[in-house]
Amino acid sequence: MYNILVLNGPNLNMLGVREPGIYGSESLSDIEVKLSKLAETEGLSLTFFQSNHEGELIDKIHAAYGSCDGILINPGALTHYSYALHDALTTVKLPVVEVHLSNIHAREAFRHHSVIAPIAIGQISGFGSFGYEMGLLALKRHLSK
Ligand code: DQA
Repeated sequence: MYNILVLNGPNLNMLGVREPGIYGSESLSDIEVKLSKLAETEGLSLTFFQSNHEGELIDKIHAAYGSCDGILINPGALTHYSYALHDALTTVKLPVVEVHLSNIHAREAFRHHSVIAPIAIGQISGFGSFGYEMGLLALKRHLSK
């Protein structure tokens, strides 16, 4: 069974309340419940973590070294500028899938660039919470190869 770390960055604890027209009406725990159900059918074990603090996310990524097989991450706004998050993900050498609820490429210019994408297997953007489900399946497929 593969262990996947599901990380969510700043402001994603406010899903459901935060700009529902862009991010949808589901809360983060609604999404986590959905992912847990998918994980059960797919035989995956998930660890969830959300933080508004870059350092806490980095600590969690370091802790995944040797204990997790892959990382599904929505880094929130850190996507666009956090070289520290990029370096942490590079350090642990685990397969990473980057996910965004909104289509970052169709929004403000500062959201078009991701410093995480170059070290990810791939990026899923614009499919709402379904993107997390796709991300899990993509990680499983990658790990099973
Ligand atoms: C986001 C997109 C980011 O630009 C934004 O800062 C977020 C959420 C998304 O899921 O669409 O916090 O990662």
